[in-house]
Amino acid sequence: LSGAITIDPGYKNSGSCKSEITFLDGELGILRYRGYSIEDLAEKADFLEVSYLLIFGELPTKVQLEQFENDIRKYTLVNEEMKNIIDGFPKTAHPMGVLAALTSALTAFNPKSVNVENDKEMYEAVCKTMGKFLVIATWTYRKSMGYPLNYYDNTKGYVENFMRLMFELPTEPYKASPVVIDALDRLFILHADHEQNCSTSTVRMVGSSHAGLFASISAGVSALWGPLHGGANQAVLEMLEEIHKNGGDAEKYIAKAKDKNDPFRLMGFGHRVYKNFDPRAKIIKKAANEVLATLGVEDPILAIAKKLEESALEDEYFKSRNLYPNVDFYSGIIYRALGIPTDMFTVMFAIGRLPGWIAQWKEMRENKEPIGRPRQIYTGSPLRDFVSSDKR
Ligand code: SDX
Repeated sequence: LSGAITIDPGYKNSGSCKSEITFLDGELGILRYRGYSIEDLAEKADFLEVSYLLIFGELPTKVQLEQFENDIRKYTLVNEEMKNIIDGFPKTAHPMGVLAALTSALTAFNPKSVNVENDKEMYEAVCKTMGKFLVIATWTYRKSMGYPLNYYDNTKGYVENFMRLMFELPTEPYKASPVVIDALDRLFILHADHEQNCSTSTVRMVGSSHAGLFASISAGVSALWGPLHGGANQAVLEMLEEIHKNGGDAEKYIAKAKDKNDPFRLMGFGHRVYKNFDPRAKIIKKAANEVLATLGVEDPILAIAKKLEESALEDEYFKSRNLYPNVDFYSGIIYRALGIPTDMFTVMFAIGRLPGWIAQWKEMRENKEPIGRPRQIYTGSPLRDFVSSDKR
């Protein structure tokens, strides 16, 4: 973590830094981006609008938003030689591993983006990252399917382009329905930033050494991949599918989650900060009902998720530990209804979190924060003399 380090016992003595971007209150279940409530933004804004808010600090005017979208469009072409890198991966490679590698590789084709010296270079790095990251994120899926890689269509919107880049085939043009675009806007907004979580702290730490934005974001992708962090949304779906396959017995899995001799954890439950409902989980649960109903998707997994949530919320083990559903518990159910494959769920999280990572990196650099250098509590051996190997 970089910046003014204060040890706040409320956060289990983890370090903390100063930021104006996101406020969250774990006890009350409050989340705000630059002072706007997540409930308001998820309902009334679109993803690029919220990205602009996080990165530049204010909601954009119509003209500013159009300009931002057009400036992103200038950089959506990814160097063709990047395809040589993606061709080096087996089809079975996990998309998050490919995405981390491709994001870092962007530096090789955009060397100027390493040292951002002024506002103009910062703005260019922001637009380049927003544009290119979305394209390479979808290339990880296209590669795994053996499909040709798609290009961004500058006549379409950012979120609509995501679905096109993912699913359009030379033989089959893709038309995203407004329901799908609205659902994705909301999901990306809900994932856009979350204070100093594991992956964002990683982006700030790497950026604090003045490594470039692509390298810092690549590190954030790797941190997010872990099943205790962003990888949880994939783990939730795999858990729900296993419960469904084994007859849908939620109580059996609640018991497993409570058994200290069993490594199983209820994925999508619990949080380092929220000791109340994760406000994002409430919004996503409601959206899951709406999107599946509108798309006419009957998914037994949703019923299992609700049963699991109900049982856990009534159970003393979970109640006494303030374990509630988090952002990852319901999101995968919507992704599945939109046709997104399970191993792309954490890539979806990364696309949503990208503006937050960029905003936090930009804030840290503009505040000229010192290189991150957490200290430790030494618990090793006291001073001792060396003994030669023949005497050990
Ligand atoms: C994200 O930080 C962020 O903001 C992250 C995030 C973001 O937007 O960036 O919100 C996104 O990463 C959400 C979290 C996704 N991860 C999961 O859903 C994985 C399952 N959850 C856990 O593994 C766990 O809850 C963590 C990792 C999220 C938090 O872990 P902690 O800090 O170790 O949990 P804790 O200290 O609060 O645990 C207290 C007790 C422990 O038991 P006891 O030692 O008291 O007996 O609760 C138990 C834990 O074993 N516990 C669980 C549990 N989570 C905690 N028991 C069963 N199932 C769980 N999911």
